[in-house]
Amino acid sequence: MVDFLTLDTDTLRHMQKQLTLKYENFKQKKLKLNMSRGKPCSEQLDLSSGLLESLNRNYQAEDGTDCRNYGGLGGLPEARRLFAELLEVQPDEIIVHGNSSLALMHDLITRALIFGVDGQEAPWGQQPIKFLCPSPGYDRHFAICEFYNIEMITIPIREDGPDMDLVEKLVATDETIKGIWCIPKYSNPTGVTYSDQVVTRLARMKTKAPDFRIFWDNAYAWHDLSSDPVPLKNILTACKEANHPDRVYIFSSTSKITYAGAGLAMVASSVPNINRLKKQMGIQTIGPNKLNQLAHIRFFKNAQNVRLHMKKHAAVLRPKFDLVLNLLETELGGKKIASWSRPQGGYFISFNTLPGCAKKVVQMAADAGVELTKAGATFPYGIDPNDENIRIAPTYPPLAELKTAMELFTLCVQLVSIENILRSREHSSTELLLHEESRVQIV
Ligand SMILES: Cc1ncc(COP(=O)(O)O)c(C=O)c1O
Repeated sequence: MVDFLTLDTDTLRHMQKQLTLKYENFKQKKLKLNMSRGKPCSEQLDLSSGLLESLNRNYQAEDGTDCRNYGGLGGLPEARRLFAELLEVQPDEIIVHGNSSLALMHDLITRALIFGVDGQEAPWGQQPIKFLCPSPGYDRHFAICEFYNIEMITIPIREDGPDMDLVEKLVATDETIKGIWCIPKYSNPTGVTYSDQVVTRLARMKTKAPDFRIFWDNAYAWHDLSSDPVPLKNILTACKEANHPDRVYIFSSTSKITYAGAGLAMVASSVPNINRLKKQMGIQTIGPNKLNQLAHIRFFKNAQNVRLHMKKHAAVLRPKFDLVLNLLETELGGKKIASWSRPQGGYFISFNTLPGCAKKVVQMAADAGVELTKAGATFPYGIDPNDENIRIAPTYPPLAELKTAMELFTLCVQLVSIENILRSREHSSTELLLHEESRVQIV
């Protein structure tokens, strides 16, 4: 493959014409494909067929609780045991709740703004506060901060997690930094898993704010794509060892294990944090949907079966990720106009264009009928400072649609890149000309 930057202007113009013709052909097809969100496909949802039927008119939990009735705020004991084992915490360190971990995160922040997090420090909402946002990251985390006027500080994300030198420096001196968003495993969208060293540093770091909290969104904890899962160090244990036992809230859910939006969500933390949370949640609700918890328990029975179930998800998803990665390689490899992640798990491929091209690529794809995640969405305030990151979500469309969408996408990337290179050449030759003219005048 030829490095586009080394091609002469005539060759690039010729390619531009040919690619434009192809693009116009795509437009004629009147496509209507949506690759904007990381949703499970119907084949994945089918893997949980039988879950709801597993109740079989028997609604009694192991302790005799009739799950059709009120109560059981922290979740069924058997549900707490199962997800405690999966998240490597103790059953009294977890609440298994409703259908959405995002709702748990949102509510926790709302309560922190009103009441604080520990009953000692002032409510977060009494002064302007800030959150650290490793980016590219999850747009809905950033939306919560924006909604509540929490200032977001972008932290670059590296191969092994957030830039810890910067994180440590900032939290050590600024008391108004109250939290950090982390997606520690197969991160959305970069696919990065935090190294042991990063986990340890997050647990140990000195924070000016005594009530600093880590929001550990382990949404993709079991979502391996390869048969060789990437390990993640236990943050709760690390925090205990570092003498900061209350520093972290761990979130997860079965949204991408069983049913998206109709699964189980959970939060894990220190026992004091969990007890405090349960008290507050008791004002909000009499208890979660225990029937759904019971159905999940009957369906899976144990943690090993959850892991086996996730291998079935991987078998559905791997061909989709392979297709996207192969197409990116054949169409864009070696052209030096883009780079992308090759994730070992999770739901996304993170794609970087040449600086200044992402918005235009997403717009061109949309104009030809393929909707992608909005450019900029992976950064606080929707502003990607380099306008280069695009989140590719390969899970939902069927293979054939995915292929068409990615063919169009790679075409758009090439067209926008050529345009960008030509424009910068024109710009620099104009600059050169102006420079020459000013020299002549000076002489
Ligand atoms: C990082 C991350 N957290 C949370 C969620 C949403 O989780 P839930 O369905 O449990 O609210 C998603 C969904 O895409 C996600 O990517």
